[in-house]
Amino acid sequence: MDKFHIVGPTRLAGRVAASGAKNAALPALTASLLTDEALTLHCVPRVRDIRTLQKLLDHLGIASEETGGAITLRRERPNPEHDAPYDLVKTMRASVLVLGPLLAKEGHARVSLPGGCAIGVRPIDQHLKALTALGADVQLTHGYVEARADRLVGTRFRFDMPTVTGTENILMAAALARGTTVLDNCAREPEVVDLANLLNAMGARISGAGEETIVVDGVDELGAAEHTIIPDRIEGGTYLIGAAMTGGDVLLERSNAADLAPLLDKLAEIGAKVEVTGEGIRVRADQGIAARDLETAPHPGFPTDLQAQYMALMTQAYGLSAISETIFENRFQHAPELMRMGADIRVDGGRAEVRGPSRLTGAGVMATDLRASACLVLAGIMAEGETVVDRIYHLDRGYEQMELKLQSLGARVARWSVPMST
Ligand code: EPU
Repeated sequence: MDKFHIVGPTRLAGRVAASGAKNAALPALTASLLTDEALTLHCVPRVRDIRTLQKLLDHLGIASEETGGAITLRRERPNPEHDAPYDLVKTMRASVLVLGPLLAKEGHARVSLPGGCAIGVRPIDQHLKALTALGADVQLTHGYVEARADRLVGTRFRFDMPTVTGTENILMAAALARGTTVLDNCAREPEVVDLANLLNAMGARISGAGEETIVVDGVDELGAAEHTIIPDRIEGGTYLIGAAMTGGDVLLERSNAADLAPLLDKLAEIGAKVEVTGEGIRVRADQGIAARDLETAPHPGFPTDLQAQYMALMTQAYGLSAISETIFENRFQHAPELMRMGADIRVDGGRAEVRGPSRLTGAGVMATDLRASACLVLAGIMAEGETVVDRIYHLDRGYEQMELKLQSLGARVARWSVPMST
């Protein structure tokens, strides 16, 4: 199992480019199930979650071919089972994104229920309610969702809460439904908009993505398309937080400032200098930074996927900050690890109080999920001495070449490959 060995403190400075967004690439890959023609995707990040999904798509008869940095997905053989087995789904919840497209295109899908995960229970009831509203017969048996429909039928449906993969799943299902579907209280994340753009390029008729209400006029079939995945705002945001935290100076290339606005506003508020130019987003912090409260919220609020990194940042800020996590019920697992490095944090349910600045010292720490891992890496870069972050496989799920990118910014981070004990 790989670990990161970090020697700190160092200041992050230089240029770094954001990779394609993992959370936009995942639904884009599953859109290949909606057509018999080829889908070519550019800027798909080379991260483990993508490889996991390629494995699942391969099981479902979709071959992916990599040429010149692009991935082309094409149906190669039928898979009459239309199933996503537990072994594949349990390692990655986003596998549930095959449900909508399989049902819409094949009339049948059998997908393992994903179960809970480190950050919360994360039910998929909204996905199932919406598919039922579109006319599907949905049954839960033996840990699987089994859904059937000769052809989905357009309807009006309101999500009880904005759900990112829920909105994406239903957009894909409704794209091939008969008639018009109106979806209310949709997730407005940029990744949802990216998927809608891809589906429209395939021939879908979707309007309103990025707003609360999305209208989908169903079509009979979808065809070939070529699409470039948007930059990863969470990955990019992680490096910008690293700049602010280490008194550094980082220019983030291939980024979209509008998608990162909630973070950039916060960085400006705490006293970092934020500049958006044609070259990218530059964040500098030459003077100390000030503590500010934070509450996570669905887009355009502050993303839960940057909450852990922001907590690492607040350990270096002057004053007391209260961080409220409103999306997931168990997303503070990085707090005790930060405390082991010297941070002053108090957690009470979904609220954490961080008092800074603290002198962090290197320690052996354990990554518990993807974004918690990124938080610990940032803390290790800021801490005096050696930090070893264990269970880096979480990081590899969503950060492309993180150690190389950090090295290019001056951090002393190395990957230790530790053979699994037998
Ligand atoms: N929810 C329900 N029922 C549902 C769906 C969601 O109760 O049917 C609840 C969830 O439990 C949560 C809230 O609604 O409390 C929002 O969850 P959402 O469905 O939006 O999360 P997701 O689609 O499962 C995606 C990202 C996550 C990111 C969240 C929130 C992907 C593949 N995953 O998850 O990314 O944290 O949206 O923005 O897009 C990550 O990349 O590290 C990550 C966890």
